Amino acid sequence: MQNPVIFVTRKAHFNAAHKLYNNKWTREENETLFGKCANHFWHGHNFDLYVTIKGRPDNDTGFVMDLKKLKILIEDEVVVHLDHKNLNTDVPFLNNVMPSVENIAIAIWNRLLPHFPETIKLHKILLYETERNFVEYFGPDTPF
Ligand code: NI
Repeated sequence: MQNPVIFVTRKAHFNAAHKLYNNKWTREENETLFGKCANHFWHGHNFDLYVTIKGRPDNDTGFVMDLKKLKILIEDEVVVHLDHKNLNTDVPFLNNVMPSVENIAIAIWNRLLPHFPETIKLHKILLYETERNFVEYFGPDTPF
């Protein structure tokens, strides 16, 4: 009998600056829509990232995935590229992307996805922009 499926989450953290500003609109329109996030001189957030995978515990280790490896993967593919960066200007994989917390979560999913073996599924990206604002992303196949 196969071992049951279980979800495993690793938490990471990064600080980054951004500005939400759409050049299609006037400064006033941007400020109305984006509020403080349109601030011309940028502003920062302390992002908390939770990466959840799912799989079956290995018979020998008891692990779905060695969490040291998951930690390194998140660090190498995501955190080093975002931490203490300006998300509008410094991050190649966010080029031409409005750096909302939604779009950052989707980009993080896309960065991590190719690195899991067949036996491990990426399940969810949970990304907190503030204590009160967070998004959850379950991948592009999520039905509406
Ligand atoms: Ni903001």
